[in-house]
Order: sequence, then structure tokens, then C-alpha cells
Amino acid sequence: MKRWHVLTGVSLAAIVVVGAVVVDVFPRELAPIEQIDQASFSSDQIDLGENLSLLGDCAACHKPAGTQAMSGGVALPTPFGTIYSTNITPDVATGIGSWSHEAFVRAMREGVDRKGNHLYPAFPYDHFAAVTDDDLDALYQYLMTQDPVASEPVANTLRFPFSFRPILAGWKLLFHRQEPFSPNPDFTDEENRGAYLAETLGHCSACHSPRNILGAVKKSAYLAGGAAEGWLIPPLGSASIAPVGWDVDDYADYLFDGWSERHGIAAGPMTEVVDNLHDANEDDVFAIATWLAKITPAVDPAEREARATEIAALDFPESFDFAFPGQTVPEAILAGGQVFKTNCLKCHKERVAKGQPISLGLTYAVNAPAPTNLFNVVLKGIEPPLGSSARRMQPISLSAEDLAAVAGFVRWRFSAKPAWSDLNAAAKAAVEHAKAH
Ligand code: HEC
Ligand code: HEC
Ligand code: HEC
Repeated sequence: MKRWHVLTGVSLAAIVVVGAVVVDVFPRELAPIEQIDQASFSSDQIDLGENLSLLGDCAACHKPAGTQAMSGGVALPTPFGTIYSTNITPDVATGIGSWSHEAFVRAMREGVDRKGNHLYPAFPYDHFAAVTDDDLDALYQYLMTQDPVASEPVANTLRFPFSFRPILAGWKLLFHRQEPFSPNPDFTDEENRGAYLAETLGHCSACHSPRNILGAVKKSAYLAGGAAEGWLIPPLGSASIAPVGWDVDDYADYLFDGWSERHGIAAGPMTEVVDNLHDANEDDVFAIATWLAKITPAVDPAEREARATEIAALDFPESFDFAFPGQTVPEAILAGGQVFKTNCLKCHKERVAKGQPISLGLTYAVNAPAPTNLFNVVLKGIEPPLGSSARRMQPISLSAEDLAAVAGFVRWRFSAKPAWSDLNAAAKAAVEHAKAH
């Protein structure tokens, strides 16, 4: 035991010493630039930069809702308090107008601002670090040629010690690796292009993986599913729980249009991701789809069709009375059936036309480990993605009791997974939260 302690002490001391060498606790300030030197800029690089900013979802965090510029101030709630994004328009006083190319590259790779402050990893520099020099140059040219917007950054409201930026040096030591992207030799060029975009700029695994108590992505559970902004985030690839497998066309539909006929709609924080991809370069988005298909177990088309047909057969005709004669159905489920009949059936019924919603049994919300996403779509509705603008679902105001009942019913009827536990308490919390916001 004792020996183990001594060894731990020695290795911790070693880590701190090595750490002080590897991670700069107080990085130096980089000189401000007098003027942006556009002589070396080209319209091709600027266009490339715009595409990369769409693939990197910069606007999701930096552009306040209802505005046009990436002027920052967007609140990002974290378990440690709220972090606000900064102004990344080239305004000299409040944005990055005085930032040299070197300062921008350092921020994207090392998470350090021009003045030498460590930045919080809510800004996904742990993913951006592997973006190539050429792509960072394109992003810099694009950002620096946007219209400057004066907008003072909003102060973070983090709890001590998280409010003390130098501690981020420790976080970086533990979790931040600046390694270039390494292509997988088993992948085609297109699959590697997709992997590069998804793992670096797209930072897909930032949401689609669980995080440890210090907020770092768990490398051992890469793409195993996560949670953010009050939503559950599905696992991707080999860990997918989709009742009907994904193929490259499904992924392409979903990423471009935010809707797939076999899997449904992109709601919650995924909406903004697909809205940006909708406007991005098609070859790049398709490359991401080919990468996803590569890491997803292959599906047998005949088996998949059979499974989809089985699930669709669970839908009800509009005339159904929800009595279930001959079946022993618990009271709570029968009550949920009545809530479904009154509030959901007019849209979620036997599918005869392409414009109708797909069978609920195919969706992640209904098959997820908890009712979180189902509650969200019922109480907040669905603001459809750009590529599927007709697929709107209005918010439905239900009592906590009815919400719990309908969730229990939907799970019982449409999913092969076990019933959700603690439905009443979860529904009560969701209804109270919706009232407060
Ligand atoms: C998930 C949210 C998120 C995304 C996506 C995101 N950022 Fe940020 N970014 C932030 C936050 C939050 C900060 C401020 C961090 C801090 O204050 O420590 C920030 C800071 C920055 C900074 C430093 C600016 C300064 O004034 O210190 C730059 C540069 C930047 N982001 C560029 C980008 C670019 C380019 C993209 C897209 C490729 C992007 N960001 C995508 C959240 C995000
Ligand atoms: C800001 C967080 C966030 C980021 C970043 C993000 N996603 Fe998602 N993603 C979600 C959420 C939330 C859902 C669930 C949406 C729903 O239930 O309607 C989702 C769903 C999906 C699905 C459907 C999976 C299923 O089984 O239903 C796919 C595919 C997907 N995302 C791919 C991606 C790719 C590829 C990227 C990177 C380019 C990405 N996501 C980046 C939050 C995110
Ligand atoms: C006015 C029509 C309408 C009503 C009423 C309605 N929905 Fe929806 N719902 C939609 C549309 C449109 C979608 C988008 C999916 C699609 O088109 O495939 C959707 C999607 C969903 C999804 C999948 C969300 C996702 O992220 O994949 C769930 C779950 C859902 N609805 C549950 C319900 C429940 C429960 C009720 C009743 C309390 C209800 N809906 C009432 C139109 C409706």
C-alpha cells in the first residue's frame, strides 16, 4: 500500500514537472496587428473558409439567434456555470480585428486568446487542433473579410475555481493533444475526407460521446452517445441503437435535409448542425456520410425492409378506439392511449403519404434510454430543418400526468426496449422546466 502511495506521489510530481514544460501556464501576448493584410487573401480561400465555417458549425455558438453576424454573446450552459461565446467578427475593439494569423491559429490549436488567456474547451479546440494549416488559413481569411460588428463580450458566470483561467493549463495537460489528423489506411480517400471533417471541424464526437466529470470527451467511449442542452444524443456507428440500420443514403438524407425516411427528423441541437451542412459543399457532406456508413455495421437490405414493415404495422388507423380487446393492458397504458388518440393520432397514424411523419417506432426519441427527447418535442414542438421545412410539429401543452401517460404508451406500443422508469417524476420536472422557460 505504502509503496503504491510513494509511486503515485512520484509520478504525480513527474507529471507536474513535465506538464509545466509541455503546457505553458501563462502564455505570452501576441502583438496586435495594425491592419488586416488582405494582399495575400484570395477569393478561393475565402470561399473555402466559408464552407469550412459551415462544416465547423461556428455560427451555432457564435451567432446570436435572429442576427446575421458571428458577434458572440451566446450562452453555453455547462455543469460548471455559463460560458458566453466571443465576438469573432473583425471588429478591432470587441472582436478579433487586431488578431494576426498566428494569434488565430494559436487559438484554434492551443485554446489561447491573443492576449495569452487560456480559453475554455466549450470552444471545441480539442477538435480544431487537428485542422490543417491550409484550412485554418482559409477560415482566417473568411472571418477577417466579414463585416466588423461592435459587440462587447458577455462575462462568464462560472463558479470558482473554474472561473480562474490558468487552471485550464491543467485541463489541457490531462486532455488536450495537438496531433494532426491521421488517415485510416483501411478507408478510401472519400471516407478519410469525411473522417477528417467529422473529427476535426465538425466536432461530431463532442456531442455524440459521453464526457467525464471534468467535461472532457471520454476517448474510450467515442461516439457512444452523450447529452447536451437538455437533450439525449444518440450513439453513432457501431454503437447505434437505431431499430433499422443506417446506410450511406440514409446518412446523406439526414445530414443534408435533416430527415431520413427510415429514422426521422433532426431535432434539438442537431437542427443547427444540419442547417449548416445544408449550405455546405455537397461533396464534403457526402464524404461525412460515407465515413459514417463505413463505421456502421452493414445492413442486409431485405432484412431491413422486413423490419421497417414490422414497425410500420404498429401504427394505428385513424379510426382506432384504443381499447385493445383480448389483451391485458395496464390501466396507465390505456390512459396514455387516450391521450395519444386526442393529441397525436391525427398526425402519427398509418402512413399512406410521403409527407406524413414516419412511424414513431423508427425514431431515436422513442427508443432512447430515457424519455428526455420525447418530452422535448412534445412540449417545445419541432422547428423543422431547412431541408424539411414542412415537417413542423407544434408544441403541445400537456399536464405532467398526461405527458407521463402518453410517453409510457408510446414506449409500450412502438419500442421493443424496456419501459422507461420514473416517468411521473421526469414528466413533472419537464413540464415545470417548460413553464419556467
Ligand atoms: C460549441 C460552441 C462553439 C463552436 C462550435 C465554435 N466556437 Fe469558437 N468559441 C466558443 C466559446 C464559448 C468561445 C470563448 C471561450 C472562452 O471564453 O474561453 C470561443 C472562442 C473562439 C475564439 C477566440 C476568440 C476570442 O476572442 O478569444 C475563436 C477565434 C473562435 N472561437 C473561432 C471559432 C471558429 C472559427 C469556429 C468554427 C470553425 C468556432 N469558433 C466554433 C464556442 C464555440
Ligand atoms: C451540438 C451537438 C451535436 C453535434 C455537434 C452533432 N450532433 Fe448529431 N445529433 C445531436 C442530437 C441532439 C441528435 C438527436 C436528434 C433527435 O433526436 O431528433 C443527433 C442525431 C444525429 C444522428 C441521428 C442518429 C440516430 O440514430 O438517430 C446522426 C446520424 C448525427 N446526429 C450525425 C452527426 C454528425 C455526422 C455530426 C458532425 C458533423 C453531428 N451529428 C454533430 C447533436 C449533435
Ligand atoms: C400536427 C401534427 C403532429 C401532431 C399533432 C403530433 N406530431 Fe409528433 N411529429 C410531427 C411531425 C411532422 C414530426 C417530424 C417527423 C417526420 O416528419 O417524420 C413529428 C415527430 C415526432 C417525434 C420524433 C422526433 C424525433 O426527434 O425524431 C416524436 C417522438 C413525436 N413526434 C411525438 C408526438 C407525440 C407524443 C404527439 C402527441 C402528444 C405528437 N407527436 C403530436 C407532427 C405531429
